[in-house]
Amino acid sequence: MSKTRIAFIGAGNMAASLIGGLRAQGLDASQIRASDPGADTRTRIQAEHGIATFESNAQAIDGADVIVLAVKPQVMKSVCETLKPELKAGQLVVSIAAGITCDSLQNWLGQVPVVRCMPNTPSLLRQGASGLYATAQVSVGQREQAEQLLSAVGTALWLEQEQQLDAVTAVSGSGPAYFFLLIEAMTAAGEKLGLPRDIASQLTLQTALGAAHMAVSSDVDAAELRRRVTSPAGTTEAAIKSFQANGFEAVVEQALQAAATRSAELAEHLGK
Ligand SMILES: NC(=O)c1ccc[n+]([C@@H]2O[C@H](COP(=O)([O-])OP(=O)(O)OC[C@H]3O[C@@H](n4cnc5c(N)ncnc54)[C@H](OP(=O)(O)O)[C@@H]3O)[C@@H](O)[C@H]2O)c1
Repeated sequence: MSKTRIAFIGAGNMAASLIGGLRAQGLDASQIRASDPGADTRTRIQAEHGIATFESNAQAIDGADVIVLAVKPQVMKSVCETLKPELKAGQLVVSIAAGITCDSLQNWLGQVPVVRCMPNTPSLLRQGASGLYATAQVSVGQREQAEQLLSAVGTALWLEQEQQLDAVTAVSGSGPAYFFLLIEAMTAAGEKLGLPRDIASQLTLQTALGAAHMAVSSDVDAAELRRRVTSPAGTTEAAIKSFQANGFEAVVEQALQAAATRSAELAEHLGK
């Protein structure tokens, strides 16, 4: 990325977090540009990161090696249609929009190299998890550029098939909300057991953080970690048996299936 020039179309939350991540990795402000219709948004991002901003998308992409489409899915078609006549050979298009397929993007932009990504909200804290898929037109060098872009805000993993992005949406895209739900439920249950709410909340949050750290840094998988903390006839075993008697694994599987199905439905709808 030492000389790569990157243009962001849309300078909202995700673009700001990616720009922050790239700057933290040492990318020079002169290598990054952004366009956005909002004057306040442009002023804010310019002040925060020292990058050039534009009202015109066409001006922003002039001379860029990588064009990051960071607008809402609903405006993607019109954004692509106005960008199409401005694109130059060799420019890579990276879309972070949920549910917009590579087929739709190439219908609107022409047969340009496209990388489609599914990041998640912890990217805003550089703790994100993203799945990436590249079309056949993407070169090895361009794959590296896309990977470095998403790695600036967390873990970035390549997928063999575009359809797997529906599963990525179900696991990591929507995933933060599942953990929030568990945090809510554990806090409420702790309160019912007699703890003051703020103590139940702090214990739950620190336990979630500690467990995630253990799982990430351990050389054994989560199932083994769980076995190691579950003594026969102990308290943890009593809780795990209760979870499993109530069909915990099936509940999780059905929830992720519902998210993946909805992701595919949205892609169908948004691609029209
Ligand atoms: N936030 C996440 O955690 C997350 C996770 C996964 C994927 N994504 C995807 O990332 C994309 C951006 O999400 P976000 O949360 O960053 O949204 P956002 O904060 O609303 O940012 C989008 C920006 O694009 C601007 N915009 C609207 N029309 C435009 C146009 N024609 N040309 C250039 N810019 C335009 C918007 O301006 P106005 O506000 O004035 O309309 C806004 O500043 C979405 O497609 C979303 O699906 C986000």
